[in-house]
Amino acid sequence: DKGGHKHFMAKEIAEQPTVIAEAIGHYLSKSGEIRLPDPQIDFANVDRITMVACGTAFLACLTAKYWFEQIARLPVEVDVASEFRYREPPIPARSVALFVSQSGETADTLAALRYCEGKADKIMSVINVPESSIARESDLALPIHAGVEIGVASTKAFTCQLTVLFLLALKAAADRGEITEEARQDHLAQLRRLPALMAEALDQSDAIAMTARKLSNARDVLFLGRGPLYPLAHEGALKLKEISYIHAEAYASGELKHGPIALIDENVPVVVMAPRDALFDKTVSNMQEVMARKGKVILISDREGLSEAGEGVWDTIEMPDVSDAVAPILYAIPAQLLAYHTAVAKGTDVDQPRNLAKSVTVE
Ligand code: M6R
Repeated sequence: DKGGHKHFMAKEIAEQPTVIAEAIGHYLSKSGEIRLPDPQIDFANVDRITMVACGTAFLACLTAKYWFEQIARLPVEVDVASEFRYREPPIPARSVALFVSQSGETADTLAALRYCEGKADKIMSVINVPESSIARESDLALPIHAGVEIGVASTKAFTCQLTVLFLLALKAAADRGEITEEARQDHLAQLRRLPALMAEALDQSDAIAMTARKLSNARDVLFLGRGPLYPLAHEGALKLKEISYIHAEAYASGELKHGPIALIDENVPVVVMAPRDALFDKTVSNMQEVMARKGKVILISDREGLSEAGEGVWDTIEMPDVSDAVAPILYAIPAQLLAYHTAVAKGTDVDQPRNLAKSVTVE
């Protein structure tokens, strides 16, 4: 049942304020206590997290690396499962291996988990299907409570994965004595605002559909971001490739002048994800380098960001104000909507894109 939407993907995008609130409610008490299922884990005894996943789940891991490292001061290694499993990486003592998978059945991720058995101190997973193989073979499995996801392009599972990983990073920060109670409560307050902010972001859907119509004529699209928005640039590019079949690449904004800027001309739209965070000015200066070469910029930022830097851009998408840390969760919505509406404009099969399966149970 598509619940009145044209596609499952549209329904699942729209569900995000509800399922995020649900996921938060499962792990966070009213007083701000983060509660995990047993067996309990104390991150004071952990020196490293190794995160492994595929596709969009891998991009959730890359985003979470920023949180674990910046907020909890805990080193994180992230790899795609297909590389990790054959690399035979050494797993140091006092490390947690953490696997993220919507289905819990992805063959490479499961093989990577099995490789870590007996090597990592603890095997953890963040999954959507509690009965899945990855959940069953973990010491501690954290469900994301996204509900069934049918669209091949992962949307609500991604933002629910991020939400659970953000809470986990905050718990790690507290366990390790790296955060004051005030700062912790502040992060939690920002997280609790997220469902309302997401609902506001969803209100931009019609405006994004107009932008997408222009984007649907492109052959190549670049996505740029910095800091925690850099993995999200990859997610925007992956979503666009998957369902609209437009070639899209993501770069860290700062990498632009190390090669990809050679691609820029008046035919290449460049989507810039730039909330007014600590790195905003740097991202904007990269964006201006694109515009100086006639690149067509679609700037995604908040009202102030757009009024400060939006002059001369090809198009804008306005997001509500959000804290730096949770920005990638909110900015997933315009990334998803841009891909969705572009695919709709092109008339592709949104829920069942060619050559793709929802669950990749063979390597
Ligand atoms: O079920 P999983 O989360 O393990 O799946 C991983 C990827 O196959 C998945 O995220 C894929 O990249 C999606 N189609 C992305 O939208």
